[in-house]
Amino acid sequence: MVKISPSILTADFCEIGNTIRMLNHSGADWIHLDIMDNVFVPNMSFGQSTVRDIRKITKLPLDVHLMVYDPTPYVTRFAEAGADYLTVHVESPGCTHLQRVLRSIRDAGMKAGVSLNPATPHQALEYIYEDADLILIMSVNPGFGGQKFLPQSLRKIEVIANRAVQLGVAPEIQVDGGVNLENFRSIVAAGATVLVAGHAVVDATDPAGVIRMMRGEA
Ligand code: DX5
Ligand code: ZN
Repeated sequence: MVKISPSILTADFCEIGNTIRMLNHSGADWIHLDIMDNVFVPNMSFGQSTVRDIRKITKLPLDVHLMVYDPTPYVTRFAEAGADYLTVHVESPGCTHLQRVLRSIRDAGMKAGVSLNPATPHQALEYIYEDADLILIMSVNPGFGGQKFLPQSLRKIEVIANRAVQLGVAPEIQVDGGVNLENFRSIVAAGATVLVAGHAVVDATDPAGVIRMMRGEA
């Protein structure tokens, strides 16, 4: 069954404890935490101390998505903060030695994720499949919640999911950006195993209902 990882990026941060407690009881599989440095993406969010505080009030796996210029100094910080998955971008200047970065994430006791921006070809992953526990295909240009899903992402998901099968590896195939109740079926059909959904879940009047539908339970 597909897993749902709600993103709290568009949530009201004065209410963040209540949002996390709501997600604890919503059927969410993971919680997606977007870290932005205002350099790699044109927006700033929160850092490891917020992740550490969230860790105290949930047992759900914390799926941390790093949109920063250089992720390398953050690997141990997010491990200490309690992240379960740590995902870096192939386009980050600090990921020139991407395989080393992914190995350092595993060495720090986390699952290693690697992400592609919409314009980055799937070939960027060719020699990194074995080092990734998760592949994150961005279906919007990262930086903001509530953007529109880019339909060309579907064929990229399909190509990457098929290539993983060919290579005999089984990373999670995660899709992030503009996922909603109208398009999630085609995203799952293309090969996604984890859906990130921010606006569609966190800003809904019935988040648990949306999650049930996305998991195919309603
Ligand atoms: C975009 C972030 C996403 C975002 C998803 O830069 O990586 O995780 O919060 O939000 P929605 O589902 O609203 O597009
Ligand atoms: Zn994200």
